[in-house]
Amino acid sequence: MVTRDVYILGIESSCDETAAAVVKNGRTVLSNVISSQVDVHQKFGGVVPEIASRKHIENIMPVIDRALRDANTDLSNIDAVAVTYGPGLVGALLVGLSAAKAIAFAADKPLLGVTHLEGHVFANFLTDEKLTPPLLALVVSGGHTALLKVMDYNSFELLGQTRDDAAGEAFDKIARFMGLPYPGGPEIEKLALRGNEEAMEFPVARLDSPYEFSFSGLKSAVINYLHSARQAGREINLADVAASFQRAIVDALVQKTATAIFDTGLKEVVLAGGVSANSVLQTSLAETAKICGARLVCPTSILCTDNAVMIACRGYFMLQAGIKSPLDLNASPSLKLG
Ligand code: KG4
Ligand code: ZN
Repeated sequence: MVTRDVYILGIESSCDETAAAVVKNGRTVLSNVISSQVDVHQKFGGVVPEIASRKHIENIMPVIDRALRDANTDLSNIDAVAVTYGPGLVGALLVGLSAAKAIAFAADKPLLGVTHLEGHVFANFLTDEKLTPPLLALVVSGGHTALLKVMDYNSFELLGQTRDDAAGEAFDKIARFMGLPYPGGPEIEKLALRGNEEAMEFPVARLDSPYEFSFSGLKSAVINYLHSARQAGREINLADVAASFQRAIVDALVQKTATAIFDTGLKEVVLAGGVSANSVLQTSLAETAKICGARLVCPTSILCTDNAVMIACRGYFMLQAGIKSPLDLNASPSLKLG
């Protein structure tokens, strides 16, 4: 029997990246176009939603055209259009979603509404061809921090999430307080390379719940330290602060993931979301997973942060299972995982 190749056009616009991609059979990347707005938002110290929406409107069609051209294809060869419909900034989501719905309607292709965070998890299927569920995912992005059991391609169970700040949000807020540019995560990681991670001991909240996180106490402890030192005129070694803060957050993420590996008995662990680009997190979690008898898979660096390849990959597995979305699908800014 001859099996036909399946081509998915993926579209992503949930925050400050306008992205489109074409993926073949869920695992082969034919194109990956990302138009980042980081420079635009940097001068405001964070993403300004209204500006993000306007930039997405300018960029969305050229980015989609480019993704089709780079893949050497056109809409007639596309089997379905996958698009992020939440969570994210509502105005930003609506731009990608409206474009996807218009293309799906005009070209008479199925529409696949994708949960952005599931997309982040699926980025790992593109990194490692042999990776299959069941697996445990640590999702660490700018807006979310969660442990997710992926039983099958379309079946997820949320084990626990953060009670307050997301890991990426804590990185961004501390970076901003230190006077570092947005996004703060990569800046803190760079600065921490020159620092001593044992210089300060910043506390992380101990919660009764085994899989829940809390980073607001850690964030306040770092801000209080910097504030008191500045008021007292004490010299601050920012590299030490960055390294100690990073160590505290990584330890908390790794400890909870280790408990989940132990309790679930899962042998495959994946990292997902922008913070998964952090090499200290990758190394620490890989070591711990190994000790627990599991294997860690991380997305390649371009697939750690927001992109449309992961959305197309997620869409492929939805299409295979016959899951499609109606053309009146609306943006869902607070869409939940699991
Ligand atoms: O997944 P993502 O691109 O967007 C959301 O869906 O939120 O994640 C962005 C987050 C930001 O908070 C950014 O500071 C963080 O990922 N991030 C990092 C690193 N690279 C990006 N955090 C720590 N270390 C990094 N190397
Ligand atoms: Zn993301």
